[in-house]
Amino acid sequence: MKKIMCMLLAAALLSASACAGPMEPDLAAYDASGRAEIPVEILGELDEETREDLLAEPKYVALTFDDGPRADTTGRLLDGLLERGAAATFFVIGEQVPCNEALLQRMKAEGHQIGNHTYSHVRLLKADKDAVVEEVHKAETLLKEAVGEGDFWLRPPYGLIGSERAKLIKTPMIYWSVDPQDWKLLDKDKVVAAVMDAVQPGDIILLHDFYSTSVDAALEIVDRLQKEGYDFVTVEELFRIQGVEPQPGTLYARPDRVREVN
Ligand code: NI
Repeated sequence: MKKIMCMLLAAALLSASACAGPMEPDLAAYDASGRAEIPVEILGELDEETREDLLAEPKYVALTFDDGPRADTTGRLLDGLLERGAAATFFVIGEQVPCNEALLQRMKAEGHQIGNHTYSHVRLLKADKDAVVEEVHKAETLLKEAVGEGDFWLRPPYGLIGSERAKLIKTPMIYWSVDPQDWKLLDKDKVVAAVMDAVQPGDIILLHDFYSTSVDAALEIVDRLQKEGYDFVTVEELFRIQGVEPQPGTLYARPDRVREVN
């Protein structure tokens, strides 16, 4: 009986720790550095010139979210994206897959792309080569268990990976071309302004669904850019639209811009 009680206690502790809240990522290192349709009601608000531009030459952009999923912020983001008909890409931390499987399944079902952000958000640049492979593989295995087979493109934590370690990666790697530093600003209006100042068609925007202010900013960015005729697509779709075949082990800031790793 005592043995059974111990086992039950151990199981309870195990599940409690497996479902512990998301860990605050170490952000200091950042200083180093399904096609969505525009909802009719928004298209209706476009002036004639913008509508013609949109029909002539659509503008595409990819929103990307790192460091989730997080139950209390990612769900709200998915609701807002669905309402707006906007697709996005989520680079997920493996440790946060357990207990968030339903959110991941929802991402897949709603046409978003899911990527790998390593198992425990390690600095791949400094990790042993075995640890690099292990970190990527472990997250990939959890993602496959949660949502089934797929290519889970990698976003290296902090965007950093050396050329030797990049050779170990079997998928394309995605950096970004617009970084509003949402994790540092923690202010919806400032994040929106930073993105609106910088964004160009074909950009990959870096945000973190870990922060409530970033979720608010993302939804306002979608609202504003859709009115300018932008269409929000996944990173994979952005490559397809631009006719670029992404190569394994290569780090892209945008489909048309490779970022050097060294
Ligand atoms: Ni990260």
